[in-house]
Amino acid sequence: MKADNMSILSNILTFFIIFLLNSSSSSSNAAVQDFCVGDLTGPENPAGYPCKNISKVTANDFYFPDFLTPHITYLPKFNASATLGFTPYFPGVNGLGLSLVYFAIEVGSFVPSHTHPRANEVIVMIEGSIIAGFISSNNKAYYKTLQKGDVFIFPQGLLHFEVNVGNITAKILAAFEGSSPGIQGTIMSLTGNDLPSDVVEKVSLIFDKDMVKKFKAMFGGTN
Ligand SMILES: *[C@@H]1O[C@H](CO)[C@@H](O)[C@H](O)[C@H]1NC(C)=O
Ligand SMILES: *[C@@H]1O[C@H](CO)[C@@H](O)[C@H](O)[C@H]1NC(C)=O
Ligand SMILES: *[C@@H]1O[C@H](CO)[C@@H](O)[C@H](O)[C@H]1NC(C)=O
Repeated sequence: MKADNMSILSNILTFFIIFLLNSSSSSSNAAVQDFCVGDLTGPENPAGYPCKNISKVTANDFYFPDFLTPHITYLPKFNASATLGFTPYFPGVNGLGLSLVYFAIEVGSFVPSHTHPRANEVIVMIEGSIIAGFISSNNKAYYKTLQKGDVFIFPQGLLHFEVNVGNITAKILAAFEGSSPGIQGTIMSLTGNDLPSDVVEKVSLIFDKDMVKKFKAMFGGTN
């Protein structure tokens, strides 16, 4: 009995000694576990980019200056512009399961219906007024007119949109629970590809030939 207890105790001690040796020998890598700044030269996979060598990570990897100036993308077709705070544009969010987008919609314009296949989204109105909404998978539309300070949620994968209904540029901050939420525009996806026009015409249910051609030209599609 006593001998059993001794051997249990010695097993436990051995376990802790091995544990301490392991953790001290890998302590130089410990910080790698805290985050995984994206190494943009590596291949992107569904989990994101491989981690940048920790010795090369600086505060700048977690810093995005002047985010509320839409300087990354201008979308002339929609008179809207955006700052994209997800990978690859913001390597610090890689692997953290979050990201941020700022967008500005000019008077009279809109963000056409689209989905984010890999993330839920929450928006905060910074300025202006929009109608924001989504359509559930049983075709119910949930929408609201938002003013400065209001918040709205778009659940993952559901069609959603924003329409500026105010007299000033609408400014919106969006957060995603995913560092690479993905964007799939409803009409852009149908037409911005090489799927033959007659197939697009059939499967869209609403397009005629001229409409297919018009949107193929608009979104870079062929065939
Ligand atoms: C990270 O960078 C350091 C310093 O340049 C280098 O010694 C180390 O081998 C690198 N580690 C990896 C995994 O590339
Ligand atoms: C974008 O703005 C231009 C110039 O004001 C206007 O002609 C065009 O209709 C607008 N497009 C949209 C989608 O609002
Ligand atoms: C926009 O301006 C028009 C004319 O000045 C005014 O009638 C209307 O109430 C304004 N709309 C909003 C949402 O502020």
